[in-house]
Amino acid sequence: MENQNQPPKILVIHGPNLNMLGQREPEVYGDTTLAEINRKLAERGVAHDLAVECFQSNHEGEIVAKIQQAAERHQGLIINPAAYTHTSVAIRDALLLLDIPIIEVHLSNIYKRESFRRTSMTADVVTAQISGLGAQGYLLALTAINSLIRRPPVVTRA
Ligand code: DQA
Repeated sequence: MENQNQPPKILVIHGPNLNMLGQREPEVYGDTTLAEINRKLAERGVAHDLAVECFQSNHEGEIVAKIQQAAERHQGLIINPAAYTHTSVAIRDALLLLDIPIIEVHLSNIYKRESFRRTSMTADVVTAQISGLGAQGYLLALTAINSLIRRPPVVTRA
């Protein structure tokens, strides 16, 4: 941890088109806006003594750059790569730079939709994935990251 007196910093990255939540296919993604999700994350962060920074971009390179910065600045990452989940080797490679808990979140259950959404380029390089719980998935991810940071699990190697 960077500074023992400061709350751990958690980065939340929202990928392309997630700025349109609320208007975008509400039957799939719900009617909660991104601003509301970010506000709830900040509140939950205060409850866990975490400093939450939220970032949204529609551009793959900007997301890669932000992930690279997290290596120095953050103790945990929540990412919904949105459509880049299914295509981006660049985002996958950037995630491999990090040695912090990473939770991939999807509002919809990507395994119950079109076949192209069932492939995640990132699922096997993150700590865990939450898919299909709507906006609540982000809050569960933050609570999970909190416990991973405070009490790292004992990993038994096969
Ligand atoms: C999404 C699922 C993706 O397939 C889609 O492209 C998105 C959002 C989700 O949160 O359910 O933009 O990541």
